Amino acid sequence: MSRFSEPQDPVFREMNTSLGYDRRMWPQDIRGSRAHARMLASRGIIGEEDLTAILAGFETIEAKLADGTFPFGAEDEDIHMAIERHLTELVGDPGARLHTARSRNDQVATDFALWTGEAAGRAVDAIEGLMRVLIDVATAHADWPMPAYTHLQRAQPVYLAHHLLAYVWMLERDRARFRFTQEQALRRMPLGAGALAGVNFDTDRTMTAAELGFDEPHPNSIDAVSNRDFALDYLGAAATCATHLSRLGQEIVQWASEEFGFLTLPDAWSSGSSLMPQKKNPDCAELLRAKAPRIVGHLSALHGVIHALPLTYNKDLQEDKEHVFDAADTLEQALAAAGGMIGGAAFRADRMAAAAADELLAATDLADELVKRGVPFRQCHAIVGGLVREAVDSKRTLSELSDDELTAQSEHLGPWIRDLLEPLSLLERKQSQGGTSSARVAEQLDLARALLA
Ligand code: ARG
Repeated sequence: MSRFSEPQDPVFREMNTSLGYDRRMWPQDIRGSRAHARMLASRGIIGEEDLTAILAGFETIEAKLADGTFPFGAEDEDIHMAIERHLTELVGDPGARLHTARSRNDQVATDFALWTGEAAGRAVDAIEGLMRVLIDVATAHADWPMPAYTHLQRAQPVYLAHHLLAYVWMLERDRARFRFTQEQALRRMPLGAGALAGVNFDTDRTMTAAELGFDEPHPNSIDAVSNRDFALDYLGAAATCATHLSRLGQEIVQWASEEFGFLTLPDAWSSGSSLMPQKKNPDCAELLRAKAPRIVGHLSALHGVIHALPLTYNKDLQEDKEHVFDAADTLEQALAAAGGMIGGAAFRADRMAAAAADELLAATDLADELVKRGVPFRQCHAIVGGLVREAVDSKRTLSELSDDELTAQSEHLGPWIRDLLEPLSLLERKQSQGGTSSARVAEQLDLARALLA
């Protein structure tokens, strides 16, 4: 007997079932159920012999799920029902007692929080892996000059290490966001909230929380089954991290172009063209660029699902999981790909140095030197602007201007400017903390390595 007199319409059944994607939470579901069963037995809500049968059943079920022989059925709406159904088939009444003092509402919230906490931990590890690669590549190129850009116009020379380390600091903030996500996911345990109001049994939620690694049982059963903030936190962290990777992807696309020619990508991370035999395309870097909006879309979608949703559980909440699962798969792949690609890239010292040797990159330094000689900064800016125009108009470099031409521009100028135009002198003058001089980059490399210690 049941409440219903006709079977579900197949279209509705297909729409309503989440088994296709939530089956990946089986390890968390079994963990949660084992803890729940132990707690029920310790409180005398089920018998010790029930617990023994349930735990034995889970041994079998775990093995079948791990090796792909678990008998999923057409009637299984989700992973929680599939596991409970098969447990009951295997061990009989003890299996049918497992769902005492529990609802799928607190069960799914618990499983999903456990899953998300683990995913956040994996993201932390993957981020550290990429930080390590970037630090290694930076160390190997600590004194390779390149131009840095604003508006994609050459601005000032920096060392390649300094530029690569910029990404390490972004990733360090991403790591902090994922650590926070992990903490939040495992903070207050939903299990034991029941459908929404608590349960009619004298349960021990402190016991289950301790076994499952939560800080404490959630003190409010209503929020316990309604809360998906940990999923939003995960997606927020993932969206920002993927956005960082998209900037790295874009820079690699530029650097790998013949126009820049700053690096050659490893064959293992490049693709060919079906038509043009000469092509070696930076597809991986382009995909890094394009994965970010996909994850941002998942974040936006889950905000939409939860927006204005009345308390407590609504089936809308089933639409939480695919966004997080796909974001996690996408981000973990992107982090691994970024590391592989950057780790294998061959930077081209000649091309970067030639671009960095552009004397116009010294304009600010010339102005600063005039400041040090007592000329007010605004006047310096104008003097150097005139000098640059003279050189550009006559198709010469700054150091090719004659002594007379220099003094004609300003009495403050003289032959001394040619020493300053040496590219390395520009780099080494950036001695302020966080700047690009070798000593400061070495200092920064130490700080970056300490992030991983
Ligand atoms: N598959 C459901 C989900 O993912 C499990 C919870 C079902 N609860 C309910 N009251 N129908 O959200």
